[in-house]
Amino acid sequence: MLKIPGLIDAHVHLRIPGGIHKEDFRSGTAAALAGGFTMLMAMPNTLPALNMAKIWQDTQSQAEREGLCDVTHFAGVNFDDLNHLRTLGKLAPAVKVYLDETFNQSAVFDHTILDQIVAAWPSYKVISFHAEGEKIASAIALAARYKRPIHICHVSRKEDIERIASAKAAGLPITCEVTPHHLFLTRADADRLGALGDMRPRLAEQRDVDALWAHLGTTIDIIASDHAPHTLQEKNDPVSSPPGVPGLESTLPLMLTAVSQKRLKMQRLLELLYTNPARIYGLAHQPDTFLEIDPCARYTFPEYPLHTKCGWSPFSSMQMVGRLIRVVLRGRTVYVDGLLTDPKE
Ligand code: DOR
Ligand code: ZN
Ligand code: ZN
Repeated sequence: MLKIPGLIDAHVHLRIPGGIHKEDFRSGTAAALAGGFTMLMAMPNTLPALNMAKIWQDTQSQAEREGLCDVTHFAGVNFDDLNHLRTLGKLAPAVKVYLDETFNQSAVFDHTILDQIVAAWPSYKVISFHAEGEKIASAIALAARYKRPIHICHVSRKEDIERIASAKAAGLPITCEVTPHHLFLTRADADRLGALGDMRPRLAEQRDVDALWAHLGTTIDIIASDHAPHTLQEKNDPVSSPPGVPGLESTLPLMLTAVSQKRLKMQRLLELLYTNPARIYGLAHQPDTFLEIDPCARYTFPEYPLHTKCGWSPFSSMQMVGRLIRVVLRGRTVYVDGLLTDPKE
């Protein structure tokens, strides 16, 4: 039996406000606990977006009332009035900027707007980017020009991780993350999974997956799930299938499996899923909070019914090694052997 800290998922979509048929604070944080996460950082591409102080605060208060674990939210960008970032900068741990189009979200493509975002956001707080391919160069250029911390979400390709490695070697204040789906799945899986294997960035080739693993011990700072729940009905719609896959409950099993296969050391897993996200985003320590793990248990995923409201996983029927047994949050057992022991029930 192994005792480790409660993990941090620094990139999830909990869909509040505007998407509670996909996920809500209750189901999303239940999935978090079942996956060994006691702290979540939720994205602002909601409906409406979390890009004004009032909506950010209301959503944050709701998460504190309804959530079964700690949740904080990224700030979003309000293109009608970038000054909202000044008040949000006092509230949110980081701002999320999209340089590519994705679900519910239009991209920033104007460099003067990027400069204004930088000017309005506190210089010591991170700016996190959804940036793919050449857009990563724009994000790196900002870090170079302004000498301030930026974070690149869900890096998926060999050229991208190598570009980030060079920028880090040059001393730029850049951090980055990868998702388990980009570490464990390729374009061949996307063909097999159909809509259930579609997300942004898309699954890449084996050479890209190999490059991510090669940089896991060095360039990569964070593993985050990019938990992006959509219902099966929405995913299977031939016309409007939205991109994104759930990941809160599969991330720890996958990474423990990698540890059992000696592709990753346990110490490094803890840096990627706890120490680094806490440091990069300046998150508060959770006292008396820990997980108990059986690192040798073998099972077919999912071992217990999923807690995410969307109810599916691209990793279904995978063989996993390593099971979460218990979650203790601030001294209270909140999850044990597949069951939530919910004080808010
Ligand atoms: O696949 C994705 N889904 N990528 C994103 O950047 C957004 C996310 C979502 O919100 O569903
Ligand atoms: Zn994204
Ligand atoms: Zn995302």
